Amino acid sequence: MQLSLTLIRPDDWHLHLRDDAALAAVLPDTARRFARAIVMPNLKPPVTTVALAAQYRDRILAALPAGLRFTPLMTLYLTDNTAAAEVDAAHASGFVHAFKLYPAGATTNSDAGVTDLKNCVAALARMEKLGVPLLVHGEVTDPAVDVFDREAVFIDTVLAPLLRDFPALKVVLEHITTQNGVDFVRDAATQVAATITAHHLLLNRNALFAGGIRPHHYCLPVLKRETHRRALLNAAISGNPKFFLGTDSAPHGQRTKESACGCAGCYTAHAGIELYAEAFDAAGALDRLEGFASFFGADFYGLPRNTDRITLRRVTVAVPDTLDYLPGDMLVPFRAGETLAWRME
Ligand code: NCD
Ligand code: ZN
Repeated sequence: MQLSLTLIRPDDWHLHLRDDAALAAVLPDTARRFARAIVMPNLKPPVTTVALAAQYRDRILAALPAGLRFTPLMTLYLTDNTAAAEVDAAHASGFVHAFKLYPAGATTNSDAGVTDLKNCVAALARMEKLGVPLLVHGEVTDPAVDVFDREAVFIDTVLAPLLRDFPALKVVLEHITTQNGVDFVRDAATQVAATITAHHLLLNRNALFAGGIRPHHYCLPVLKRETHRRALLNAAISGNPKFFLGTDSAPHGQRTKESACGCAGCYTAHAGIELYAEAFDAAGALDRLEGFASFFGADFYGLPRNTDRITLRRVTVAVPDTLDYLPGDMLVPFRAGETLAWRME
């Protein structure tokens, strides 16, 4: 049995850091493990311009504890009104690395999202031309579509037509949850990739209802059945560079999770690489973790690979019931009150 694993320091290609006190509470967990992260723009109000992204980046860097090195890779929130000139400005900025498409109403803080991609044609054409990636929350919002089918329907009705109209557009289908997502990305053009979360590699939808309703396992896209989890795991360990790490760690206070209408999002940053090690180990594929976690994302974004290393040791680690988050509201981490199988040195 392999007792330790050393790999080039990973990056997180899909992360929610929030702002202000919440940002200060969660940032160290990510910055200890990852050199860089693609930071999601779904603040309230959303980060829609390069100017807003510059200010948010400054707040992230200011919240970084002394001694930790971490580079936030900023994204802009695509809206019905995003101008092509904003794409030019993003591309020229050097610190904005992508636009994020949230179908309006699809998930947490997505009210300002895109109502119809027809409104975004000019911006998308400029992104295609300049090679600026579009990061896609791939779920339709039609309440008539079954929640568990929303990714598959999105792929057929939105993503496939989008790539027919913009065949050279760089796209990341974020946090894929289905065999359909795996198949689509694998068979698409080379500049189409996907991120996969640790929780979607470790859990299937039974985890939402294990002994009672489990709000801390509720995220969007929602967990799917076991066949889909296996498809994701096979993609992650395949060595195909189209699939790379994105935790989608998405903190919400305990009060807003444990509620009659609980928020979507799992907090995994406290074990952001350890949980992936567990998933890869269970598949007998620890040797495939470095490519997935440390190489393929950087290559996709055209950024240099990291050069320093981290070491994980096979040690049982207890996860606290709660972590500090906001005054009067705690954060319930993934595996709260249970254990992790790996520890980062
Ligand atoms: C995310 C959040 O809380 O911001 N929630 C989630 O369930 N993943 C938004 C998102 O990525 O969909
Ligand atoms: Zn997300």
